[in-house]
Amino acid sequence: MAEASSGFPRSYSQEELLDSGSYEEPLIAGGVRCHGGFDPQGRYRSPRTIHRLPAVHAWQDRLSRDGHPLLAIDTALMPPQFPNVEQARLLLKEGVRDPVVRRLTIISIVEGFGAIIRDVAVPDLASQLVEPIEGTALAHLGSGLFEAHARDEAGYKDEGGHKQMWEAARDMALEKPRIPGDVLLRMMGQGPGRRRERNRVFPELDEDLERMLATMAQVLAVEVFAMGVFDWGERLLSDPEVSADPQGAGDMVSYIRADESPHVEYLRTALSEAAARSLRTADGKTLSGRDVVRELLHRTLRGLTHERREEQRRDIRENLIEAMQAHANPAGLLERFDALETPWTPPERTGFEGDPAASG
Ligand SMILES: [Fe+2]
Ligand SMILES: [Fe+2]
Repeated sequence: MAEASSGFPRSYSQEELLDSGSYEEPLIAGGVRCHGGFDPQGRYRSPRTIHRLPAVHAWQDRLSRDGHPLLAIDTALMPPQFPNVEQARLLLKEGVRDPVVRRLTIISIVEGFGAIIRDVAVPDLASQLVEPIEGTALAHLGSGLFEAHARDEAGYKDEGGHKQMWEAARDMALEKPRIPGDVLLRMMGQGPGRRRERNRVFPELDEDLERMLATMAQVLAVEVFAMGVFDWGERLLSDPEVSADPQGAGDMVSYIRADESPHVEYLRTALSEAAARSLRTADGKTLSGRDVVRELLHRTLRGLTHERREEQRRDIRENLIEAMQAHANPAGLLERFDALETPWTPPERTGFEGDPAASG
C-alpha cells in the first residue's frame, strides 16, 4: 500500500490514549464517581478521548488517503428491541416491572463484560501482516485501545464505567427497584454471558491473529447494534409517564451513548486496516486480509441476526409470561403486549458475503 508522506499519523503512547484531561465537574451516578465529566459550559465529555479521538480520525484519514474503504455495518441488520419501547411502557404502566428491571440489569452486566477486551491476546502484528502497521490503529490495539475500551465499559479502580452508569439510570427511573435474584444465573445458562467455543475459520492463520480479528468483528457488531439499545433506553427512561427521573435517567443513557462512538470507530478502523493488508499463513503463504475480515464479519452478523436473536427473544418472552402471572388479567395483557410487537425479518444479506461485487 502507498505510504503517505505528509500528515503521517504519529504513534501514541498508552498514557496518551488513556488520558481524559481535566474536567470542570466529574460525573456522579447513583452516588458513584464515574468516568467522564463536564466542561465549563456544562457539556459532557467522554473519558480517555482527548488523544484517542483525534488519533482515530487521523488513522481513518490515512486509510482514505491510501485509497482503502472504511468498513461499515448496515444498521438495517440491527434487530428491533424486545420488548420495544411501547411494550416496555405498557408493562411498567400495568405494574409488571420485573421484565424491564431485568432487561436494564442485563444491559449493565453485559457492559461490564466488555472488560474482557483487555484479555484479547494481541499477536506480533508487524510479523503477521505483510505491509507495515506503523501509525495505524492496529499498532495501538495492545497498547492503549483495548485497555481504554475495557475501562469505559467496566470502570477502572474506584471510577465507575458503563456498568455503573446503566445501574444508576435504572435506579433513577425506576426508583431503586428490586433486582430479580436470578438475573446472572439465567444469563450464564442461556443469555449473552454464554461463551461459545469458536471454531477456526482460517486454520492456516496464526491462532491469536484469527481469534483477535474474530473478537473484534463480534464486538464491533455488538457495539453497532447497541445503538438500538441506547435509543430504547433513552426513550423509555426519559418518558415522564413511566420514569421517576426522566431528565437524570435520560441524560445518563445519553452520556453512555456518547462514550460508545470511539469504540465503533477504532474497531472499524483497525479491521479496515487489516482488510487492506495481506496476512501471513503458517506455511509461508498469504491470505487476503479483506477476505478474512469480511468472512468473520459475515459470520458474526449472520449469528446475531438469526439464531442469537431468536434465542434471546425466546428467553425474554418466557420470563415475561412468568412475570405477567402477577397481573389481574395475564392473558389480556399478553394480547395487548403482542399487538405492539415490531415485525422484523432479518435482511437476506449481511453485506459481507464473499461476493467481490458487494460493497466494502
Ligand atoms: Fe458501553
Ligand atoms: Fe462499547
